[in-house]
Order: sequence, then C-alpha cells, then structure tokens
Amino acid sequence: MQHILSAKQFSKEQLLEILSSAGEMEKQVLAGKVEKILQDKVVACIFFEPSTRTRLSFETAALRLGAGVVSSENATQDFSVYKGESLEDTTRMICGYVDCLVLRHPEAGTAERAAKVATKPIINAGDGGNQHPTQALLDLYTIKKTLGRLDNLKIAFGFDPKHSRTIRSLALLLTHFENNIFTFVCPPALNPSDDVLEDLKSRGAKFEIIDNLNNFGDYDIFYANRLQQERFEDKAEFEKYRRALVLTEKLVAGTKTKILDPLPRIDEIETAVDALPNALYFEQAKNGLYVRMALLKGVLEG
Ligand code: NCD
Repeated sequence: MQHILSAKQFSKEQLLEILSSAGEMEKQVLAGKVEKILQDKVVACIFFEPSTRTRLSFETAALRLGAGVVSSENATQDFSVYKGESLEDTTRMICGYVDCLVLRHPEAGTAERAAKVATKPIINAGDGGNQHPTQALLDLYTIKKTLGRLDNLKIAFGFDPKHSRTIRSLALLLTHFENNIFTFVCPPALNPSDDVLEDLKSRGAKFEIIDNLNNFGDYDIFYANRLQQERFEDKAEFEKYRRALVLTEKLVAGTKTKILDPLPRIDEIETAVDALPNALYFEQAKNGLYVRMALLKGVLEG
C-alpha cells in the first residue's frame, strides 16, 4: 500500500514518472479516449475544509478512469466526527468501504495519523498549514509543460509562506532539480517558518527572503498564493497585510514572468492580469485533473 502524504516522500525518479503518467492522462482526456482502468474501484473524497478544485478534480479524475466516488464536502458537520468520533475510527470505517481515501483536514499531521490506522491508501489533499503534495505535483507539471524544464529556475513565492502549505510543498519538490533559486516575497511577519528553511538548507537549496516586488521581471515563475486567512491567529494581522503586496497589471505587463496560483485568488493578483500571457493559473487548475488521474492510477494499480 502506498500513501501520498507529503512532498518529502518523493524521489526525483518518482516525480518524473508521475509527470510522464500525467502527460499520458492529458493525451487520453484531450483525445476523448480515457481507458477505464479503475472500473472496479471506489474512491472516497472526505473534506473537513472547503475546497473547489482539489475535491472536484479528484472526483472527476476517479470518474474519468471508471471508478466510483463517495464524498463529503463538509465532513466537520456531516460526519460522525461531529458526534465525537475520532479521525482514526472514521478512517478505519471508510477503509472498510472504499479502495482509497482522499482526505483534507484543517489540522497539520492528520494525513499521517489517518495513514497509521488505514488499510487502504491515504492521499493527503491538504493538512492544515503543513502539506499539499498533490497540488505541488500539479504545479510542477504546469511549470514543466510551460517552460520545458524544472531546473535553472528563478522562482519567487508570495505572499504568505508562513502559512501556505502549497508553497511549502512545491519548494520541497523543486529542490530535486539543479540550480533553482528561491525567493520568498512577503511582509517579514509572514516569513517561511524555520522548519521549512531547515528543510531547504538540508537539501542544498539557495534562497532569499525579501519584502518587495522590485525584481518581479527577473523571475521565471512567480508563485502567488493568497494570505491564508483561516490560519492567522490574529485576524487584524491578516487585514493589515492582505493587500500589502499585489501583482498588478502595471507590474506584470511586458515581463516574461509566468504567474502560478493554486487559487482561490482573493487580493493577491489583480483580475486585469488574467488576460496577460503571464497568467497560468486557470491552466494550472485544469492540469490538476491529469495529475490526479495519474496519482489515482499509481496508488490503485500499485
Ligand atoms: C490551496 C489550499 O487548499 O491550500 N488551494 C487548493 O487546493 N487549490 C491554496 C489556498 O487555499 O490558498
């Protein structure tokens, strides 16, 4: 059994295999001929935190491959956890019914906890501010598809590296590739946490932390993510910083810098940027389907 819990778990070879399998899935979807390889399988998508893209793309991925789906978009209210059942017991139950459990939860470490008692593969669809490995994989796929490479990149991450699980996971994955230079762009109060910086150092990554957009045009990729309102202990701090740094049309137009954003977008990118060739985020969201098809295939076919 193979769980997908963290961006830390992958080797470079595994990453390349997943990207190649996702490319195959994209071809099949675009040709309208998807092989129904998961016909006898059922996937559960159980979300204790809101989601648009992650849940719907996982469910669509399962359905396109022929699997059945059971799901909850609001498990905090709908599930027996509401009555006091533990995450462990809930996981044991779900594993009795389905072949794979895609789980999102507001608390860091829940995917690991579920995996400890699971008898079926667990896929972490985001655990608090900790990890979001499947998002990072689709981000990687989008970068490779657009720039044709995953090395020699100047990549900036804004604007809330302290709380953003997608920034944390993607930065880890990009350390597998040569000569990438990371810049974290944020108000100092939202700097990446020490454990993230330790991970990057231990992997030999080059990085800097700055609080301005002066060098925007120098980056190959700018990975924007909203301030993670729900993870701020002090809501006034969120309000203070939410518009401190914004990718405006004026800043972006005429530069080569491609912009990714796991979405949802709130204030971090002006809507006028959407029409510029720099904007990759809607395409990026679409790529989630192909990558999640590849992941379900990998996990369920063994
Ligand atoms: C991200 C998440 O849930 O962490 N969204 C997503 O899965 N596409 C980013 C976010 O919510 O800001």
